[in-house]
Amino acid sequence: MITRRLLLGATAAGFVLPASLARAQIQANPFTLGVASGAPKGDSVVLWTRLAPDPLKGGGMPAGDVVVRYRVWEDAEMRRLLREGDVIAPEADAHSVHFKLGGLLPGREYWYQFAIGDYDSALGRTRTAIANGETAKLALASCQNWQSGFFAPYADMAEWAPDCVIHVGDYIYEGGIGTIGTRQVEKPGETLSYRTVRLHNSTEIVTLWDYRNRYALYKGDTALQAAHAASPWIVAMDDHEVDNNWAADIPQDPWAQTPLEFQVRKIAAFKAWYEHMPVERPPALTGLQPSLQIYNSYRFGPAQLHLLDTRQYRSDQYLNEDTCGAGVLGRVPCPEQDHASRTVLGLAQEQWLARELRRSEAPFNVLASQIWMATYRFSPAEAPLSVNTDAWDGYNAARARLFETLGQDVANPVVVSGDWHCAAAMTINAEPGNANARPIAHEFAGTSITSDCGWMHEMDQMRGNNPHVRHLNARQRGYCRFDVTDRNWSTSYRVVDDPYDAASACRTDIEMRTRDM
Ligand SMILES: [Fe+2]
Repeated sequence: MITRRLLLGATAAGFVLPASLARAQIQANPFTLGVASGAPKGDSVVLWTRLAPDPLKGGGMPAGDVVVRYRVWEDAEMRRLLREGDVIAPEADAHSVHFKLGGLLPGREYWYQFAIGDYDSALGRTRTAIANGETAKLALASCQNWQSGFFAPYADMAEWAPDCVIHVGDYIYEGGIGTIGTRQVEKPGETLSYRTVRLHNSTEIVTLWDYRNRYALYKGDTALQAAHAASPWIVAMDDHEVDNNWAADIPQDPWAQTPLEFQVRKIAAFKAWYEHMPVERPPALTGLQPSLQIYNSYRFGPAQLHLLDTRQYRSDQYLNEDTCGAGVLGRVPCPEQDHASRTVLGLAQEQWLARELRRSEAPFNVLASQIWMATYRFSPAEAPLSVNTDAWDGYNAARARLFETLGQDVANPVVVSGDWHCAAAMTINAEPGNANARPIAHEFAGTSITSDCGWMHEMDQMRGNNPHVRHLNARQRGYCRFDVTDRNWSTSYRVVDDPYDAASACRTDIEMRTRDM
């Protein structure tokens, strides 16, 4: 609720700019980054926008907080107005709006729009969750490197308009500016080629200014805006929203960033993430330690969704070259990796998840994990085992604890994941690497929206050593559609014909049903 006190000031930024004054000072359309909704519950959803008339240069808003008008309708034609009011876009949050709209009915569609002065935002459609719904249609997306392709999968997703989009991370990439053109990589028996089709707007991002402008670059994409305007999203951060392969307090390159530098960088990254995502809670700060509440449960009819945070609380990847090899891909597992103290979720989240799973009465229990949970062997059967140690494969004891929980009467566990830029449908066996061991879950890993799969050749080469893998496609970009009923889970792997064409057609590569797997 907006009170008079709130409207009159006493905010972190100092004062609220009256709507009439803000209007006079905003010289161009401030709704350049679109609208979004998120965190759908049965009676509420979070509505988002950000005012940014000059999006790539800090936003371009005049100083001070600003009052923005919102309107919500029950129909797409905007005839039945449900509610309207004012919300604040604080300067301290880069003039972003996070408005939790409550008092809604479950399983209903709503349409919303923001306005300031003569400017109206795009019209967004959202949908509340419903516990006793009979079906759910959910989309899974991840990994959208701006430079390596266009966001055509999002145009297709917007047309489908799912009940909810689950984004498991790598919404932005932190790296610097590439070079337009084609890069070829020689592999035994084939030449791989990757293209850079558009460029980042700065060198590697470190400061709040950088992160804000990077989000603004990505969110300027019309296909991405359309997917946000079509459905509510549930979002989790992976590594590239901060720094490649970071883990808790540790950056990928501790020799290049001091612990203090990395803490400050994380504060900037977390804050900018909040400012651009349809989430309710800003990051909390304890001293210089930022934290984001990402893990949470949602219910979509037959599917209880547990959104996991596999980045913020994890133990570091092993970088002991003497005993564990070097590099994340294909390192030889070592005794250290099996230590019981090593964690992916952290103790609090592990306990929360066990409680949620015990309590769930849904026909399907979905674990949305940024990283792959199923194992994948990157070495021939006769050679020592090598795996991706940034994924659950690098945290054997933590995974075994989770499997134990899943084995205790949890109905139809389904893992959905991203990070690895490779589509895969897999059976998760109680004993990783033994396809004859008891099956305990299915996993559907999405490919990337655009990001290159630099290890596609190796994935294909090793496919035969991974009999638990039912479908594998590392070579195409796209996203997943899930159609869930009480009795069946169906995954359609959507792929674009040409990742370097913004108008590319999108089609179903394969449809996988859990009852056939
Ligand atoms: Fe990624």
